Formats: sequence, structure tokens, C-alpha cells
Amino acid sequence: MSLEKRIDAILKEFNLDIEKVSSNDISKADLSLKYFSRKGQISKLYDSLSTASPKEKPIFGKKINDLKRDCEKKINELSDIQLEKNKFKDFSYPGDFHLTGSVHPITQVIDEIKEIFSKIGFSVAYGREIESQFYNFEALNMPSYHPARDMQDTFFIDKDFLLRTHTSGTQIHFMEQNEPPIRIIAPGRVFRNEDISVRSHCQFHQIEGLYIDKKVSFSDLKGTLDYFAKQLFGNNVKTRFRPSYFPFTEPSAEMDVYWGLQSESDYRITKGTGWLEILGCGMVHNKVLKAVDYDMKFWKGFAFGIGIERLAMLLYGIDDIRSFYNGDVQFLSQF
Ligand code: DAH
Repeated sequence: MSLEKRIDAILKEFNLDIEKVSSNDISKADLSLKYFSRKGQISKLYDSLSTASPKEKPIFGKKINDLKRDCEKKINELSDIQLEKNKFKDFSYPGDFHLTGSVHPITQVIDEIKEIFSKIGFSVAYGREIESQFYNFEALNMPSYHPARDMQDTFFIDKDFLLRTHTSGTQIHFMEQNEPPIRIIAPGRVFRNEDISVRSHCQFHQIEGLYIDKKVSFSDLKGTLDYFAKQLFGNNVKTRFRPSYFPFTEPSAEMDVYWGLQSESDYRITKGTGWLEILGCGMVHNKVLKAVDYDMKFWKGFAFGIGIERLAMLLYGIDDIRSFYNGDVQFLSQF
């Protein structure tokens, strides 16, 4: 076959082949190999130039160069999108690796607690992270001279505003905007001006709970929180209530769950008692009901506040609270 005919034949074949790449019958890489590798069709044409007469050489040389350029252009123009699409027709093609995120362990615990309380009719409310002194302290029976303000080292923004030190202010916002009966939980981030260490941080999360209705008693509070502990830790969990003090509840209590003393770390986290405090609670103080203009003759209620980090550390066996906030993907991807 003359050189000229061979050039035409190769061009024709190339055009057929490029169709096959588009329909995914051969790969782009195989196509390049067939025409441009050392033993490829086009390289072979260059080899054949040596047999051409001196007059033909420059003519055919140019033709082969043109052919090569055209073919290269066509290969480069093969749209990657087209090839991507076609890839899905090839079921033997190795899958793509996608880096996916995971739900943060704190969010997982919050979601679980939301689920537990939603089963007994609690809905979810949200407060605000930047809060006024009124909602964070005053309306919760902590006037400016109250010593309990010292329990919560506060980040002040100016003389009126601060980063909330607890989620309890959400109780006030919600009661101002809604009539009883009320059954809510309010998850959120809170801030305290504390040194960062293995066990404490300047930001953490709480879930506030508020229940207001007629004839609510302390046994309703105990029953509700006992149900919560059983759902979270299993039916065999032992709980106990200890008297405590919070300005916005009267009487106030803390609930402990029995964690046991099997391992050395159990001794450490329960300070040798086997019991672990997981929340604060109490009957809503009359002064709080008054601050939101609720008629105390009709309405009573209980409230509680659960620390999330502590629970997440227990449930997932995490021993450094800082791991929650340093954004280490390797740590987070375990959950
Ligand atoms: N706000 C309290 C704290 O941050 C927790 C708390 C205790 C919330 C008792 C309540 C409650 O609603 O009744 O330490």
C-alpha cells in the first residue's frame, strides 16, 4: 500500500476508534497507545518515510505531521465529563474514593437525647449563644449581688451582654413566648472562662429541660429523669438523687448514675465512689415563674440541665475533652 493510502487508512481507523472511546468500548489510554507509542500506527508511518523518494519525503512528512496533530487534538478534546459519564457503564471499573464526613460525637449524643425525650412528648427549642445578663442571670433568680454568679466564670462582651454560661436562659425565652403547658428540651453550646485541660474546657454543651403544667410534683421529675437514664444506659442502671443548690430551682437536686468500680479508670472518674453525677435539676423556683408572669396558683414545673461532654466521654470512652474541639479528622472519623 502506498504511503499516502496508508495515511488515509490510519485516519479512517482513528476516527472509528475515537467513537469507540466515546462509547466506552476502548479506553483513552489504549487509543493513545495504539497510535502514539513507539510501535504505534503513527510512529510506524514515520519509520516508513525512509523508503520514500527525496521528492516525496517532505510532502509525506508534512502529511504525517498533520495527521499526528489532528489525532492528538481529537484525543485531547475528548471531554472528561463524557468519559466520566461513560465510566458508569463499565461495571468492572474500580469505584471512586470519596472522603465523607461523620456526625460529631457531641451531635450524636444530643440526637439520642432528643429522641429519648421526644418519645414522652418533649419538643426541641433553641436559645442564643450571646445572651443578656437578664436571661442568663437575673430572670433565673441571680441578681447582680448573688454569690451564685461566681459559680460560672463568665465571658462578658460588654456590661449587658455575655456568652451564655448555661442553657437555662432558654427557659425564660420560651416561657415568655409560650403559654403553659410546656414540655421542651433545649440543646446548645455554653461558655465559661475556665482553663482548658483534659477534663474542662471554655466551651461545652448542655441540654436544658423544662416541664410546666398543673400539679407537677417532684416525683414527676424523678420519674422522667429515671426514664431518661434507663433509655440512655439500659434498664438496669441505678440512679440516685442528691440534694443540691441552684438559684432557679427549689428544691434542687443532682442525679447520679451508678457507674461501678471495675477498672482503675472507674475509680478515677467516679472519685472512688462508683457514682457519677450527670445532671442538675429541681422544681422551677417561684421567682422564675414570676419573672415570666405565670400564675403560680395554676402552674408548677420542673427543670433540668444535662452536661453533654461528660456523657459523650463515658459513652464513647474518650478521656480528653479537648478531642471534641480540635477538629482532628482522624479522631472524628471513628464515630
Ligand atoms: N444551669 C445549671 C448549670 O449550668 C444546670 C441546671 C441545674 C439546669 C438545675 C437546670 C436545673 O434547669 O434545674 O450548672
